[in-house]
Amino acid sequence: MASFADRLEGFPRWVTEEYWVGTRRSALTAWAHPGALRQAVRDARGLLPQVGQMTGAPVADLRRWLRDLRRHRLSAEIRRRCAPASGMGSPHAELLYLFVRALRPAVVVETGVELGVSSAYLLQALADSGRGELWSIDLPTLGPGGRVNQDGKLDRSHVESVEMVGQAVPERLRGRWHLSLGDARDLLPTLSAPEPWDVFFHDSEHSRAHMLWEYGLAWPHLRPGGLLLSDDVPNNDAFLTFSRSVGQTPFLWLRRGALRKPVPGPAAP
Ligand SMILES: C[S@@+](CC[C@H](N)C(=O)[O-])C[C@H]1O[C@@H](n2cnc3c(N)ncnc32)[C@H](O)[C@@H]1O
Repeated sequence: MASFADRLEGFPRWVTEEYWVGTRRSALTAWAHPGALRQAVRDARGLLPQVGQMTGAPVADLRRWLRDLRRHRLSAEIRRRCAPASGMGSPHAELLYLFVRALRPAVVVETGVELGVSSAYLLQALADSGRGELWSIDLPTLGPGGRVNQDGKLDRSHVESVEMVGQAVPERLRGRWHLSLGDARDLLPTLSAPEPWDVFFHDSEHSRAHMLWEYGLAWPHLRPGGLLLSDDVPNNDAFLTFSRSVGQTPFLWLRRGALRKPVPGPAAP
């Protein structure tokens, strides 16, 4: 029988994440900020309809796919494999999973793997769709010092050793995975993934120049109707600037963004 938590379908976690992104405060402070809590509930309720609008998938299907995902207990499996990865993941990762389920892509490309939480969710979606492969690129940052990016900002994400890159990804999902270690600036332009790409996910260096460079490189590889997804969109104006440059309205969710490449209409007579 489904537990009470299962019946809530993870929704409280989405609300607490929205609350944190909106206020930078723990959900324990929500009693003192009822307006911010109401806003977080509204935002969390809007997530599935917006994914549906962007992908054309009915919300009922998105709910069903979320139930599939939660039945796998992937976040618990990730925690067992890789303790430092605990606390990462849903609902950011759950929406990645839903985008991929909705598109049923053949080719997904991601930059920025670290422990492999996003890779695990992308691969789980490919496995559940029964098709597609993931090409991932990561330049590991070794040791707890993090790395200063081209904007002079410190990115704290790191691994203790090269072997830890992607450690969170269960063996059962690795058959569809091509992982390359190195700088995206060198590896992305010569990636051996077949054309066209269906989904591109940026989560490597979050400097403005690098984000714009990755978006600009990926966009021509994407098929019409393909998706460009990005983490850490609020870090700077790169995602909004790129969206404007391609004439598309982005869907912004939590700290992430999604852009759908337009499908050309029939030529005018
Ligand atoms: C935020 S973490 C990725 C987290 C992962 N996507 C997840 O959700 O679990 C960013 C990763 O990108 C790597 N990185 C930074 N600059 C890079 C570059 N130029 N090329 C490839 N990877 C890079 C970092 O070392 C780090 O492993």
